Amino acid sequence: MRGGARQAVILAGGQGTRLRPLTLARAKPVVPILNRPLLAYQLALLRAHGVSDVVLACSYRVDDVRAALGDGQRLGVRLRYVVEDEPLGTGGGARRAADLTAGPLFVLNGDVLTDADLTAMRRLHEARGSRTTIFLQPVDDPRQFGLVETDANGRLRRFREKPTAEEEITTNTINAGIYLIDAPLLARIPPDRPSSIEREFFPALIAEGITSYGWCPRTYWRDLGDPVAYRAGNIDLLEGRANMPLSPPGERRGGSWIGAGGSVADGAQVVAPSVVGAGAVLGRDCRVGPGTVLGDGAQVGDGARVEGAVLWERVAVGAGAVLERCVVGADVKIGARARIGPEVVLESGAVVPDGATRSR
Ligand code: GTP
Repeated sequence: MRGGARQAVILAGGQGTRLRPLTLARAKPVVPILNRPLLAYQLALLRAHGVSDVVLACSYRVDDVRAALGDGQRLGVRLRYVVEDEPLGTGGGARRAADLTAGPLFVLNGDVLTDADLTAMRRLHEARGSRTTIFLQPVDDPRQFGLVETDANGRLRRFREKPTAEEEITTNTINAGIYLIDAPLLARIPPDRPSSIEREFFPALIAEGITSYGWCPRTYWRDLGDPVAYRAGNIDLLEGRANMPLSPPGERRGGSWIGAGGSVADGAQVVAPSVVGAGAVLGRDCRVGPGTVLGDGAQVGDGARVEGAVLWERVAVGAGAVLERCVVGADVKIGARARIGPEVVLESGAVVPDGATRSR
């Protein structure tokens, strides 16, 4: 079947080492973004572009992924899971999952947050007679990414994974982690040993002259690989920098989203844009926001201040504590008058004593 591309595989089996310690407690593809699992945004985007049959290639902390997404019904998609006993890398993971599909399919890295127009990508793939089309993005510092060189017509010329030497940085266009691939090509990947789609599969296609194009639209895109990017991705969506087909849970009030069943004491303020999870309890004269996400069941003590921060579920912030531009895992207890500084990441379950300071 040509045309179409109504199916997708999402690579969701990595250990997310750069996002530790957050990924010690939860698989990266389901870390919360504005109180929804990261992959919920990808699934909503796929669905908005007519793709509702999705296979997740999983390996690490599979139960987290299943608990967060189930069979996909709530998100309007059909989800199937393929689980690797031993991680097979991006190549083997894609191959095994793609065995459940037929025809052209989207393959997505599970840590990409974007509102890219996948219909336009599909059109380009078809119009050029491309066999693999790769979503590209320009970045300021391409060193931590895979560089992709194209010719004047957008045809792929070369792939270079995470170059170190300056002379190897020949472009600022990088592999943005979404591919449209004609399924039979994936049968080239061995199903039973680890391999890399970026280091092996694509370079081999290019070397053999198989028609492959890059697609580089102006769009919102962020790779949520590390804690700084993770927090920034939350802020981007709060500030409306992306046109996502999914909004945060809760009721829209005064430029923020407020979950059900919480309470707000006298003098407490929620400064927009912020998201307050269901059942959150805000103490007297506390100030939450701007640019803040409180997970479900959060408790913010009297006079505490939380700004630019992302808090997972059931975090308790003591009276008079100050949190600025940090990320706090689930069930963390922060003592009274404690101070948590910019870009600090507190692991799920951590306890910060009264009056303590954490900074980077
Ligand atoms: P780091 O360890 O921080 O590099 O993160 P990662 O494990 O997520 O690796 P990377 O960012 O390179 O992975 C890109 C995408 O491929 C992510 O969505 C991963 O979940 C996924 N991925 C990485 N390795 C595997 C694997 O062995 N199997 C499967 N199924 N997916 C993988």
